[in-house]
Amino acid sequence: MPYLRNCWYLAAWSDEVGDEFLERRLLGDSVLMYRLSDGSVAALSNRCPHRFAPLHLGKRVGDAIQCPYHGLQYASDGSCIANPQGNRATPAAARLHRYPVNERFGAIWYWPGDPSLADPSAIPDLSFLTDARSVGVHGYLHTEANYELLSDNILDLGHADYLHPTSLGSKLNQPLENRWSH
Ligand code: FES
Repeated sequence: MPYLRNCWYLAAWSDEVGDEFLERRLLGDSVLMYRLSDGSVAALSNRCPHRFAPLHLGKRVGDAIQCPYHGLQYASDGSCIANPQGNRATPAAARLHRYPVNERFGAIWYWPGDPSLADPSAIPDLSFLTDARSVGVHGYLHTEANYELLSDNILDLGHADYLHPTSLGSKLNQPLENRWSH
């Protein structure tokens, strides 16, 4: 499926990413996220280049990731730093992709495209999310549907009054006399 890759995406809320590995499928890719000992967040490809084991099932060794299959270890920059097998050489080709990440507005933003183009100033201003004068509710809703249907749904505000009259509907599309009749 084609995706716009050279842009920032909200990958998780800040409070979802801690010391434990968080795996999330984003733009068709399995992405591994966790918080490093300095408090920053790393986002890496979640497949070991050796035999493609899912790394979120492995374990943390300090800030490194140990593969659950044969024990290769990867640093948070994606490089292989330890190999318990054979001659213990660390193959240069065994490297995870590290996505550019920025934590802002209570969220973890990741850049799935060309890392050299990742400009943090391009993250949309959602400062109202962390404004002390506002109250918000956030969460994660996994939907088994093409993401384009979700975009279409959210951009189509005209349906809310009619399909969701008792929840999301504001009745702003209805004649004034009907807005407060229920
Ligand atoms: S699959 Fe990861 S070390 Fe073999």
